[in-house]
Amino acid sequence: MTDNKATKFTDTGSRMAPDTFYIKVTATGPYLVYGAPPIDEEIIVPNEDGNSWSYRKGIRISQPTGEPCCALCRCGESQQKPFCDGAHNTADWDPLETASFDPILKDSKWYEGPEVVLSDNEKLCAYARFCDACGRVWTIVGKATTEEEKNIFYHETGFCPGGRLIGWDRKTGQAYEPKFDPSIGLIEDPLIKVSGPIWVKGGIRIESADGRSYEIRNRVTLCRCGQSHNKPFCDGTHAGTHWRDGLPV
Ligand code: FES
Repeated sequence: MTDNKATKFTDTGSRMAPDTFYIKVTATGPYLVYGAPPIDEEIIVPNEDGNSWSYRKGIRISQPTGEPCCALCRCGESQQKPFCDGAHNTADWDPLETASFDPILKDSKWYEGPEVVLSDNEKLCAYARFCDACGRVWTIVGKATTEEEKNIFYHETGFCPGGRLIGWDRKTGQAYEPKFDPSIGLIEDPLIKVSGPIWVKGGIRIESADGRSYEIRNRVTLCRCGQSHNKPFCDGTHAGTHWRDGLPV
């Protein structure tokens, strides 16, 4: 993409949730959740080709009252998942945050089609595979011109839970973002028999252990298996390690 085009594609469509909602990453322990957003299992559902297509809600996780309302495990070893039980003190994990504080678009690659544009920040891949639902999104971007093709393109980008992929209208420069209330999902991926990350939706601020905030984004996935190399964000490692949280699916 040329520089003058790139200046048109700058507003990612993410808006910050009310500031009562935020998640604090602790240095060596759990995520502390403020503002009592609803927490639900979000179970990936396939299409008729067996590819990730939508989510259905599983159990609602009831939260204790008070602030923070709960502490969610991020080492992956708690026996009371999704909550912390102190297992991080003896778990084999590295709690260090290594993710960038830069805006997502700084490290994104761009793919330009006749009608739509794709930005792709590979470091934020949560391996949910909606990008393959009806053909690979990197192929679709180059040929989507009909409403049906564009809808599939925006479906594949918008369902990407970690927000790695953003779909843009080429003519207006507008990003397509699904509307989310501030809320938290625990991703379950029965297609490959693993549990996935914490899906943070609706612009909830994520504050690092050192007090800095990451970019406000409408879709973010936080690692809860403890093994990501891009903490606090999920990098898909849970799929390779076949991590499970033990919750009913
Ligand atoms: S939950 Fe995805 S890498 Fe940890």
